[in-house]
Amino acid sequence: MGKVVAIDGPSGAGKSTVAKMLAGRLGFLYLDTGALYRAVALHFLHNGIRPEDDDRALAAALQSVDVRFRDGRVFLNGIDVSGEIRTTEVGHFSSVFSARKTVRAFLLEVQRRASSDNDLVAEGRDTATVVFPEACKKFYMEASVVERARRRYAQLKEQGMDVTEEGAERDVVERDRRDSEREIAPLMKSGDAIIIDTTNRTIEQVLEEILAIVRSDP
Ligand code: DC
Repeated sequence: MGKVVAIDGPSGAGKSTVAKMLAGRLGFLYLDTGALYRAVALHFLHNGIRPEDDDRALAAALQSVDVRFRDGRVFLNGIDVSGEIRTTEVGHFSSVFSARKTVRAFLLEVQRRASSDNDLVAEGRDTATVVFPEACKKFYMEASVVERARRRYAQLKEQGMDVTEEGAERDVVERDRRDSEREIAPLMKSGDAIIIDTTNRTIEQVLEEILAIVRSDP
């Protein structure tokens, strides 16, 4: 089992960018756990699985899934779906399906396997609380709703999506609520996590702060 730095927080807090850069600076692998949830949601959408389907149907669909995250890209049954998973539709369904026990149990194994031979920077919603409770450093990144909605809007615009600022804010608020209120492994701050508020701060400032903390205590 390698060393793990776990970073959780709501969508738009800046976790992915910072986690990826942090992994590069530490020489650790980067694990975007949200990408795994998105890939599973994409598989369900491709196979006609709907949120109202029961756990048996979800479990059956998961039998034909091989999902991996490698070199910053996510592969679904060997196919690189890194671009396809970034739509608002897949984002929405990944949040909806991530509340399901079968999906979480399936991805728990995939995530833990990723750390078996590697040092990792893992980011998501429950990496510090559930997936890697023994992580050597834990962070909880957050930012104001307005700032997170602004970032989400800019990101989707850049990808050529048809969105409004109000739509981006609605999406962020709805996702926060669903991810925090679900019964299994909800988004929450681990008791031993350090809070990093990224509102009005640059990526570099946040990265340097986290790096200093990680390096201060090997
Ligand atoms: O980080 P993201 O927006 O790509 O994540 C997509 C969804 O996946 C998120 O809304 C909830 C779910 N997720 C989760 O439940 N647990 C994680 N560790 C990561 C993501």
